[in-house]
Amino acid sequence: MTTEILSVDDGLIKAKDIILSGGIIGMPTETVYGLAADGRNPQAVKKIFEVKGRPSDNPLIAHVHKDYDINKLVTVAHGYVYDLIAAYMPGPLTLVMDSKGVVCKEAVAGGDTLALRMPSHEGCQKLLKAVNVPLVAPSANLSKHTSPVSAEHVFNDLNGKIPLILDGGRCAGGIESTVLDVTGKIPRILRAGLITKEMVEKVAGACEIAEHKEGDRVKSPGVKYRHYRPKCDTALFGIDETDKAALLYDAELKKGRTPYIMCSDAVAEKFKGKNLLLLGKSGEEVAFNLYDKLLEGEKKADIIIAVSFGREDGVYLGIMNRLKKSCG
Ligand code: TXA
Ligand code: MG
Repeated sequence: MTTEILSVDDGLIKAKDIILSGGIIGMPTETVYGLAADGRNPQAVKKIFEVKGRPSDNPLIAHVHKDYDINKLVTVAHGYVYDLIAAYMPGPLTLVMDSKGVVCKEAVAGGDTLALRMPSHEGCQKLLKAVNVPLVAPSANLSKHTSPVSAEHVFNDLNGKIPLILDGGRCAGGIESTVLDVTGKIPRILRAGLITKEMVEKVAGACEIAEHKEGDRVKSPGVKYRHYRPKCDTALFGIDETDKAALLYDAELKKGRTPYIMCSDAVAEKFKGKNLLLLGKSGEEVAFNLYDKLLEGEKKADIIIAVSFGREDGVYLGIMNRLKKSCG
């Protein structure tokens, strides 16, 4: 199979045909690229798990267009959920609710809940409107690898395994959606992302962060796996450990290897003259650049030496979650 890359407009009809006949395609969203299938079709959903090499106990997110009647798919249990929908959807927020079973059990790993998301990406909305069915989609990378934020990244992982990638440009968000369990009285963040705890609190009045401790029954199975790893070696240092990072860099150079420092602009000057993967200034910039720089780094570097940011508030919570799993 050769994998075709087409713009959303050029590939829309082909994409619709493939999806509605049980195939899978790469699609853009505002967070990362997804690997999409008709969520009602067990055979199509199985292809996603096969192509990614994803463990079958890790459920998928269902994506719908902005005018889709979500009551067909899930039960909204609490009033605050409507406020969250009004404030942040379409956008990088995924809500876990009780499923009505329209999306097949293979997609939700046999569970009773469904994670639902309405992407704001214009091209993705066009595709969702065209098919008018829930599309289940994990990130369009091989399991455990770094998530893709361009059509080219998807191609590099899945060339020959899927017929089509819709190219919707570079993802504006850069890290995956916030996964929020809204089955309880207080919303709980299962996976941190661009919609922050503070943003949820502002609308819903309160918000908890799920702690995943050793031995816990895992509520969001995805968080228990090693994830987001680039194909080269990695190391992770705190913002107060720039000296150690520089020492490791020099030691790697002496061994004849090619190291790269990955850091925010704020500490870049401590690494003058060294190979750099710069992540930018603000949290939004760092989120936008993180996967792109990891994927650039794995091509150029023998080791990516990452330096963290000295904060885990706001969007940095989601960023640090990814950075620890990719480089820690
Ligand atoms: O931004 C995103 O969310 C991207 C784009 C493509 O939409 N998708 C994505 O999917 O990141 P994936 O499969 O890589 O991650 C889905 C996460 C996993 O951590 C999974 O365990 C969790 O959502 N999840 C899915 N369904 C769930 C459910 N019913 N209950 C709890 N967690 C769920
Ligand atoms: Mg993923």
